[in-house]
Amino acid sequence: MTDYRHALIGCGRVAANHVDGFGRVPGWVLATACDREPHVKEFAREHGIATAAQDVEEVFADPGITSVSIAVDHVQHGPLVERALVAGKHVLVEKPLCLDPAQARQLVALAAERGLVLSTVAQHRYDPVVRAVRQWVGRGLLGRLVFASATLQARREPDYYTGSYWRGTRRGEGGSALINQGYHCLDAVRWICGDLTTTAAVRTAGVLGGVIETEDTLSGLLSASGVPVTLNVTVASSVEWRTRIEIVGELGSVVFDLDHPGRLRRWDGSAELVRLAERESSRGLAEEPPGTSYYGTSHRRQIADFCRSVAGGGPMLSSPADSVGTLETILSLYALSSR
Ligand SMILES: NC(=O)c1ccc[n+]([C@@H]2O[C@H](COP(=O)([O-])OP(=O)(O)OC[C@H]3O[C@@H](n4cnc5c(N)ncnc54)[C@H](O)[C@@H]3O)[C@@H](O)[C@H]2O)c1
Repeated sequence: MTDYRHALIGCGRVAANHVDGFGRVPGWVLATACDREPHVKEFAREHGIATAAQDVEEVFADPGITSVSIAVDHVQHGPLVERALVAGKHVLVEKPLCLDPAQARQLVALAAERGLVLSTVAQHRYDPVVRAVRQWVGRGLLGRLVFASATLQARREPDYYTGSYWRGTRRGEGGSALINQGYHCLDAVRWICGDLTTTAAVRTAGVLGGVIETEDTLSGLLSASGVPVTLNVTVASSVEWRTRIEIVGELGSVVFDLDHPGRLRRWDGSAELVRLAERESSRGLAEEPPGTSYYGTSHRRQIADFCRSVAGGGPMLSSPADSVGTLETILSLYALSSR
């Protein structure tokens, strides 16, 4: 029996992850695909979605739709999330929640006021490795943290930007290497180490500067309760996609990446940490990613958590306020640098 009817707004690169995730939850159906471009009809047909809509207002006006995914360009997140909440829909919005922290806080308050679930996609928080490392840090298995570092090396060709109406534009994307590709590395470190304050940042567009208004590279110096955190993100390297996160403590350290399937690479420390790390590293994840491989498979975990929460199962693992903090950190790194 179907109890919940979901709609997907925006049928582009990340859409497959939402189709896959909602398709796996018993009692839920992805009833409507919405995209302002005509390709929505083919998208709906291909994925067996009953309704194809080109106007979001049709989705918001449909009383049978319980909830929506919003997977469009960044500048439209804020207005569409607000519109959806006002229409009484639970909302799963792709990262970032929006481009303005004050608006982000208003959206979180609006969702709470209306008793609706609002969640920003941060799927790597649901990666088993990230959850395990967060737990080990929380239990003090690494001792006092000494430093953390997060790196993303990615490559984006000029046509990735020139073929898009929003990528690489200040208005549509609000930044590039950090707010788009680097978002997850920063968010994962924040999730593990705690709130971040920013000290310095440098951003450049040395490679893609002729193509984009935004940055292709950003390095930041931050701290988590006094613990130094370094961040280096680029979309101008020779490697298509490679992340590396290192958490170093007085009593132990771990190195892992967010690439599919999410791997613990190295570890050192107490017998207990080594035992847990060996177990985690041998578990692996024999899962096929539904879309682009490095988006991973954890959209399905976050979507399952979203559905559980909509069905009255209590708060999600990660609260909407968490994504406001990540947005504030990103904007603060932009404010500390200039391009
Ligand atoms: N979590 C992840 O790992 C991940 C991965 C990729 C993208 N994303 C995020 O997903 C979002 C979308 O990215 P994408 O790469 O899929 O973008 P995209 O450009 O490939 O797709 C966006 C789609 O939205 C449609 N659209 C725009 N405005 C619309 C409107 N008002 N009504 C209906 N349709 C509209 C466009 O026609 C387009 O088809 C962004 O926020 C991006 O940062 C997240």
